[in-house]
Formats: sequence, C-alpha cells, structure tokens
Amino acid sequence: MAAENENQVRRWEELMFLYRSALNKMETRISVLNDEFQSFYNMNPIEHVKSRIKSPRSIAEKLKRLGYEDSIENMELYLNDIAGIRIICSFMKDVMIIADKIKEQDDLDVVLVKDYMNNPKPNGYKSYHMVVTVPVYFNGESVPVKVEIQIRTIAMDFWASIEHKINYKYDGDTPPALKAELKECADIVYMLDKRMESISKAMLSE
Ligand code: GTP
Ligand code: MG
Repeated sequence: MAAENENQVRRWEELMFLYRSALNKMETRISVLNDEFQSFYNMNPIEHVKSRIKSPRSIAEKLKRLGYEDSIENMELYLNDIAGIRIICSFMKDVMIIADKIKEQDDLDVVLVKDYMNNPKPNGYKSYHMVVTVPVYFNGESVPVKVEIQIRTIAMDFWASIEHKINYKYDGDTPPALKAELKECADIVYMLDKRMESISKAMLSE
C-alpha cells in the first residue's frame, strides 16, 4: 500500500511538472507572437495574458461533477483545462488573428475548438476556446500535454468575469431577472466591441 501511494505521489508530481512546463511554453509562444506583431506589423493585438494551473480541489470537484471517480488517471483522461491560458485582445478581429497564428504552429496539435465568438452561448458568453497539446520533453521523450486556451476581447472578459462571480454567488442558480440583465449586458458588450472595431478601422485608414 505504501509503495502504491509512493507511485501515486510521483505520478502526481510528474503530471504537475508537465502541466507547468506546457503552460510556460505556451506563455512564451504568446509573448513571441506579440513581439512579432509589434516588431513587424506595428500591431498590438494582445492586451494581456493570464494563466493558471487548476487547484487539486477544483480538479476533484470537476471530476465529481462529471461523474468520474477522483483519480489521477481520470484527471489525465477527462480534464482538458488543468493548464489554462487566457489571452485578452483589444478587438474582435485580433481574437481570430491570434487563434489562427496558434493553429499555424505545426508542433501544436489542436484537439478541440469551441467557437463561442461566432456562436455565443445562450446566456451571452462569448470567447474562442481551443484545447491544444504542447510537446514537453521529459525522461528523454516528447510528451503531448493538454492546455486550454481562451481568447476574447477586453469587453467580453469584463462580462465573463462579472457573470462568473454572480453565478458563483448564487451557486449556479442565478435568478432569471439577473440572467436576463446579464444577457442584455452581453448584447451591449457586442455593440461596444463592434463600435471600437470600427473606430480602429477608421484610425488605420487615415
Ligand atoms: P467547464 O466544465 O466549465 O470547464 O466547461 P467545458 O469543459 O464544457 O468547456 P467550455 O469550453 O464550455 O468552458 C471552458 C471554460 O470557459 C470554463 O471553465 C470557463 O472558464 C469558461 N466559460 C464557459 N462558459 C462560460 C460562461 O457561460 N460564463 C463564464 N463566465 N465563463 C464560461
Ligand atoms: Mg474550466
């Protein structure tokens, strides 16, 4: 039993190392991309980047929510978002430019795309999601490690952050009136994004 535990602890540490390394590599790539845009195209598409490793408590809660036993194997198999990175762009067009630039990198495998930019969720949520695998060298071999990437505008991020807080406060059972209000705000966010984009276009064509 003690040896079994020892193995589990080692596997956990290996996995956390892999997720941390994959996230580091992804952060560097994003920063290189931003540098490329600034240096050669006089563009500044990325406003800021946030990244996080999911906490053990959130990992256990999510496995439970999905109906899986809380184990290291299940976490590896079923969770795509243990390593997560969020890229916040100024304009809607930048979101797709960054997504395409990431897809272009041929040592990354795109495992899953959820385009809530062009197909918003019924609650109004907008964002472009990708799950990619990043190669990490460990023990003399290249291991593909999953990273969830969310790309959205500052305005969409503002909305998502407030909606998340409200949802958390009501434990997922937000009152209908508030939900309706949030949906309305999502429409306003979209309007704002469109107007900001047209200002930016006007500026570029001067
Ligand atoms: P989760 O189990 O919530 O991770 O969702 P999923 O595995 O079905 O994947 P999806 O791509 O739909 O969502 C991934 C992540 O996007 C979530 O963990 C949130 O960070 C974010 N997200 C998705 N939907 C919403 C939403 O309606 N509101 C907010 N605030 N964030 C959302
Ligand atoms: Mg998640």
